[in-house]
Amino acid sequence: MHRTDVVFGKGRAADIGEELSRLGVERPLLVTDPTLVEVGVVEPIVAALEADGIDYDLYDEVEPNPRVATVESGVDRLESGDRDGVVGIGGGSSMDTAKAIAGRATNGGTIADYEGLQNFEVDPLPTVTVPTTIGTGSEVTSAAVITHPDRDEKLGILDDALIPNVALLDPTLLESLPSDVAASTGMDCLTQSVMAYLSTNANPITDALTRAAVEMISENLPAAVAKKDLDALMNMQIATTIEGTGFMNAGLGLVHAMSHPVSAHYDTPHGVTNGVILPAVLKYNRVAREEKYADLANAMGVATHTMTTREASKRFVEEVEDLSAAVGIPDGLADLGVEESYLPDLAEAAVTRKDTRRNKGTNPRVSTEEDVLEIYRDAF
Ligand SMILES: [Fe+2]
Repeated sequence: MHRTDVVFGKGRAADIGEELSRLGVERPLLVTDPTLVEVGVVEPIVAALEADGIDYDLYDEVEPNPRVATVESGVDRLESGDRDGVVGIGGGSSMDTAKAIAGRATNGGTIADYEGLQNFEVDPLPTVTVPTTIGTGSEVTSAAVITHPDRDEKLGILDDALIPNVALLDPTLLESLPSDVAASTGMDCLTQSVMAYLSTNANPITDALTRAAVEMISENLPAAVAKKDLDALMNMQIATTIEGTGFMNAGLGLVHAMSHPVSAHYDTPHGVTNGVILPAVLKYNRVAREEKYADLANAMGVATHTMTTREASKRFVEEVEDLSAAVGIPDGLADLGVEESYLPDLAEAAVTRKDTRRNKGTNPRVSTEEDVLEIYRDAF
């Protein structure tokens, strides 16, 4: 039985030591990226551990689109310090890496051996996640996405055992979130909420979660990106954890299936890539989910009662495009450095690779490689 205790509140980062003790962790490895250390986001966690006299080590080498080698050196670091638990501090990259290190440490081999579903035999080390961005949901999910540079591919590692023991949500850690990272991760949050709502695996429970998230994102993302107030960031943090629970149960569909090959090859930020691809996928999927689109337009504040379902469904796509533009997401894949001549390779990857196939399987419309290529062209 795996589930996450969600601890929430301003200043709750100070409780990290207490949460670790509750899990029986005495010598944690902190996993994060160098920028977060530099700007001081990790400081409250470190200060709390020091105040409690807890012996920790800080592994701050996580990069965007983290690679197999990053997980493996994290495991080396963990083993050399005889660490007994892992704390992932940061965005999806840091939390996914932390979860992967915790699973790999108790199961041996290399992290690439665990690609796919439920491949860990032994429970990972206790894991705490401390999200400092507003969009991945990794703090509560069973997934870790790790890039295999040799195979030019992202490995989806999905295992219930990877579900973190504790998610420590402290809105004050978001105060120094750069606007571009807020926009990127926020668009991941929107993509995951919307696509889980439209998924073939959606049910009334996941719908309640993901629809609520869409409403919160629509209300709070622009202010969170403009950094107008901490409440907007806090609401985005809440929306993220809500949609994480939703999409973990419903699946992600075609946007993630199409964005992973792009990020694996071009090393583009996950959220921005999703944000660029989302409108094209929404246009393609609209005929299959007209009513749900209309409902999402309503969730985004559109007075849909004066419109036909078709009009409202089209309006939803426009609302997403407007929100994306408002937070500075580029217009097309070309702006991310993607080459037009490479689109057929991306389409092939999106329909054939393990991780992308799994996401694609929950998309509301069944699509061929030719369909996917057309959508890439539309998003170009
Ligand atoms: Fe995502």
